[in-house]
Amino acid sequence: MTRSFEKVGVVGLGTMGAGIAEVFARAGLTVVGVEADHEALGRGRGNLESSTGRALAKGRLSEAEQAEILGRITLTTSLEDLADADLVIEAIPEIMDFKRTLFTELDRICEPSTVLATNTSSLSVTEIAATTGRPGRVVGMHFFNPAPVMKLVEVVHTVVTEDGLAEEVADLARRLGKTPVSVGDRAGFVVNRLLLTYLNHAAVMLENGLATREGIDTAMKLGVGVPMGPFALLDLIGLDTSYEVMCVLFQETRDRRHAPAPILRELVTAGLLGRKSGAGFYNGE
Ligand code: CAA
Repeated sequence: MTRSFEKVGVVGLGTMGAGIAEVFARAGLTVVGVEADHEALGRGRGNLESSTGRALAKGRLSEAEQAEILGRITLTTSLEDLADADLVIEAIPEIMDFKRTLFTELDRICEPSTVLATNTSSLSVTEIAATTGRPGRVVGMHFFNPAPVMKLVEVVHTVVTEDGLAEEVADLARRLGKTPVSVGDRAGFVVNRLLLTYLNHAAVMLENGLATREGIDTAMKLGVGVPMGPFALLDLIGLDTSYEVMCVLFQETRDRRHAPAPILRELVTAGLLGRKSGAGFYNGE
């Protein structure tokens, strides 16, 4: 029987989680957004309002449509509210211990039929799945930043994913207006394995003094036709996320091409995380 996904939970309402919640709500699903405390919940609400507010300001949404979308999203600090969700996706920080703790909790709370998904950029979905009593119903559902705009969802299956589940999740992605690509469970999957290697290399080139940050960005934009140069894109993705992905890639492959550029670590240590902190390779917007 094909599963019908009507009620979904989104754990973590940072840039990605809020974007994912918006995408589900726009497609007419009932969404429960969960954050750790009231302060974080307030930030999550702000993320949802500013993203849909942007569409409103551009005349892409009416006030009534914005209210309808936001009205489909309930915000809570209690994971217990996800008990009867058809699918729960997490977008919490990329720290395996946090993910393991969360999935152990979700496994205890949610009905056995609930599909548990992770939006991880690079961590092992198999390892996350193994912390639960339902590893066959744990998948990766990897969205791209900004989630309301980017059309791709990588659907990550593991060696124990139940037959047919990845295709059902791919159908859900299509219902959201996205294009799914089925991928196996290797660090970085397809996009980040290629993209972050390129972005990291741009940082190495900058450190080597080959060209300026603006020069490299302009060269790639005009020479290749990408919408953003590598440093603008690193700032959009977040330097912390980018650094974490590189660390996981390097750990898995031991390939020197994946060694994180020292400047990335330096900026992250200094709290310069890109757009989310107001400054990164560029000083704010
Ligand atoms: N939230 C919601 N909507 C957004 C948005 C956001 N954060 N940013 C832009 N938009 C919307 C705008 O409202 C606009 O919509 P309309 O066409 O309906 O008016 C549309 O996107 C285009 O935006 P802008 O005109 O403001 O700007 P732009 O044309 O320069 O596009 C961009 C902005 C979509 C971000 C574009 O520059 C782009 O595609 N950049 C590359 C992004 C990318 O590569 N993302 C993947 C990163 S890798 C990743 O995410 C994986 C990971 O795990 C790390």
